[in-house]
Amino acid sequence: MTRQIFVLNGPNLNLLGQREPGIYGALSLASIETACRALGEELGFQIDFRQSNHEGVLVDWIHEANEKAAGVAINPGAYGHTSIALHDAIRAIAVPVVELHLSNIHAREAFRHKSMIAPVVKGVICGLGQDSYLLALRALKTLTE
Ligand code: DQA
Repeated sequence: MTRQIFVLNGPNLNLLGQREPGIYGALSLASIETACRALGEELGFQIDFRQSNHEGVLVDWIHEANEKAAGVAINPGAYGHTSIALHDAIRAIAVPVVELHLSNIHAREAFRHKSMIAPVVKGVICGLGQDSYLLALRALKTLTE
């Protein structure tokens, strides 16, 4: 059975590849999406890959995931550090959520060390670039079995 997985991306991640490549790498979000789709196929997942710069849109997608998806991988971008709304949305749903970041948020500015969503997700992966996404999908494979 093919299960649907939402891969959600928060603000500024549409600029990947151009944005601070020394921190976030040279890959575009489109090429990360391609890699997620390829691994998803291998894992039996249909990947629904989305990006928004708007907090409320991300909240709506988290709610939608509860109806349509088996699990969620989310790179919340900066909203991960600030958003009680994302925290509450993730708390409110039953499907497993994995938080991920391209960069190692703990090796960066102090304001990035805190994640508002970390207490309500199954696990957190950070610092591994594109592999953070791919490892999140592998984790969801186990979490959704
Ligand atoms: C990020 C880390 C956040 O601190 C930052 O605001 C981002 C990207 C990452 O993937 O490394 O936008 O989530």
